[in-house]
Amino acid sequence: MCGIVGYAGPAPSSPSSRPVDVALQGLARLEYRGYDSAGVAVIDGEQVQVTKRAGKLQNLRDALGEDTATSSPVAIGHTRWATHGGPIDGNAHPHLGGRRDELALVHNGIIENFASLRAELEEQGYTFRSETDTEAAAHLVAREMEQTGDLTEAMRRAVGHLEGAFTLLAVHIDAPGTVVAARRNSPLVVGLGQGENFLGSDVAAFVDETKEALEIDQDQIVAVTAEGVRVIEADGTEVTEPKRYTIEWDAASAQKGGYASFMAKEIHEQSSAVADTLLGRLEGGRLVLDEGEIDESLLRSVDKIVVVACGTAANAGNVAKYAIEHWCRIPTEVELAHEFRYRDPVISEKTLVVAISQSGETMDTLMAVRHAKEQGAKVVALCNTRGSTIPRESDAALYLHVGPEIAVASTKAYLGQIAACYLLGLYLAQVRGNLFPDEIAALLEDLEQIPQHIQTVLDGSEQVEQLAREMKDATSVLFLGRHVGYPTAMEGALKLKEIAYIHAEGFAAGELKHGPIALVEEGQPVFVIVPSPRGRDSLHAKVVSNIQEVRARGAKTLVIAEDGDDAVLPYADEVIRVPQTRTLFAPLLTIIPLQIFSCELATAKGLDVDQPRNLAKSVTVE
Ligand code: M6R
Repeated sequence: MCGIVGYAGPAPSSPSSRPVDVALQGLARLEYRGYDSAGVAVIDGEQVQVTKRAGKLQNLRDALGEDTATSSPVAIGHTRWATHGGPIDGNAHPHLGGRRDELALVHNGIIENFASLRAELEEQGYTFRSETDTEAAAHLVAREMEQTGDLTEAMRRAVGHLEGAFTLLAVHIDAPGTVVAARRNSPLVVGLGQGENFLGSDVAAFVDETKEALEIDQDQIVAVTAEGVRVIEADGTEVTEPKRYTIEWDAASAQKGGYASFMAKEIHEQSSAVADTLLGRLEGGRLVLDEGEIDESLLRSVDKIVVVACGTAANAGNVAKYAIEHWCRIPTEVELAHEFRYRDPVISEKTLVVAISQSGETMDTLMAVRHAKEQGAKVVALCNTRGSTIPRESDAALYLHVGPEIAVASTKAYLGQIAACYLLGLYLAQVRGNLFPDEIAALLEDLEQIPQHIQTVLDGSEQVEQLAREMKDATSVLFLGRHVGYPTAMEGALKLKEIAYIHAEGFAAGELKHGPIALVEEGQPVFVIVPSPRGRDSLHAKVVSNIQEVRARGAKTLVIAEDGDDAVLPYADEVIRVPQTRTLFAPLLTIIPLQIFSCELATAKGLDVDQPRNLAKSVTVE
């Protein structure tokens, strides 16, 4: 949840703020991971200098005075999403460790055995000043450094005592040119520069500086200096060839580019994002995966698919269920990843688990993947962040290729996730012979038209923006849909809740009369996602009836319907049009007005659209 950055460069010949600047720049890029507090540490001669402040990064910037410019060759920084201890200055990272405050450490994750470690360290004379679990790790590394005099070895020994999930970065006055780091169940990547090296929770931390990166595996320890990078395993053996890769994202893609928010920018990138997800994927009849492989004979024997995901990614999975079951005739379940593992699910070697995650780091989804693998299931990951943990631990990975998603509210990744699910579904249908090649070709042809249709919806966004501004004082909004319109309704409601703080609920339209219709009173805004009248007649007719039912009870009906569907006109207070497409592909279009609505309404309310309260972009704690 937190963002972590580390830098090691040449010692500046004159006092220079380069390490702090690099750390601050990295933190600005990582602030989406948490924004309760922020801090940096440098080595200033014989002491560690820590500056940290509660609140957004700007508070830290304001606190960093002229005297913070040092000749330190290293810096570490942290932006926090609070777990243990409230978001106050004292609980902000970095934390000092050791009897002389000789070490500073930043941490992402949760150290589960911190209470017993704290008791042990207090008994040994170490003083604790915060309520965090992190301080135990800081003292632990400092204690091991006292004994070994080697910071890398001290980190290795310290993590041997830790339970839980963590990425740790530390600097020490006796190793002034080194940043040492470790990871377990939490992300860490290394950026390789010319005469300087970087560490980050993800590549966004240093993408301005270098495109060359190293993946760090589970339980590895890494030490970076200006001259090089050393990686060792938990047992101390050297890793001679850590996995190196080139970052595809450019720095500009992590900037707002003239939009008022990253969310607005990312919504408007969706046409090219989906085109990039689809690009060159189903070639010569094979699905081009980015990593790993799943044997076709195994795909032919699959008797169940289980999609595991959270939040928006789970809504994408719910869209996929309709398509995969229809095309492949394989029973498909969608399970919230945090519920999956504790339910004792029935899975076997014949189950294909599809893990959907933008970040590739969501702890609940990662744990579900591990549980599935333990039961013998094969796992395909649909993720956006290269080098992240979920795809690396899965049997195969299909990356979304939608570019970095910075706003906490997921938009373009949602569309990429749905498009990736369609590709997987079509591939399965082909391998298993459920569809004829010409049927698949026709579906693919229509899918390839979708980016153009997305652009049409985006070009017409003014109507929804105006509606959002008019409705900025709404206190409750309902969303209704059937079939693939149902997950769209859920996703529309999630967007409005998380960024506009408005009570919103998504319902299966058929469920309305079983209770939720009691919520409808005079003036209640209700969005209704209407399926194509060119699809199943009965489905369209049923949804039109649902519009009438809520309108008869005073609802203000905001209807999303495809071009040419005039049957909705008598019952709609507002009709928002989307281009015609196949019923199963419509979710790639119908969600867009709802994304725009939330984004514009939150902006009109003066809220921080990209960093909504209490949230963080990637949820790396369970
Ligand atoms: O990185 P992931 O896709 O695994 O994240 C899953 C959810 O935390 C995420 O989709 C969340 O619901 C978003 N804030 C929704 O906009």
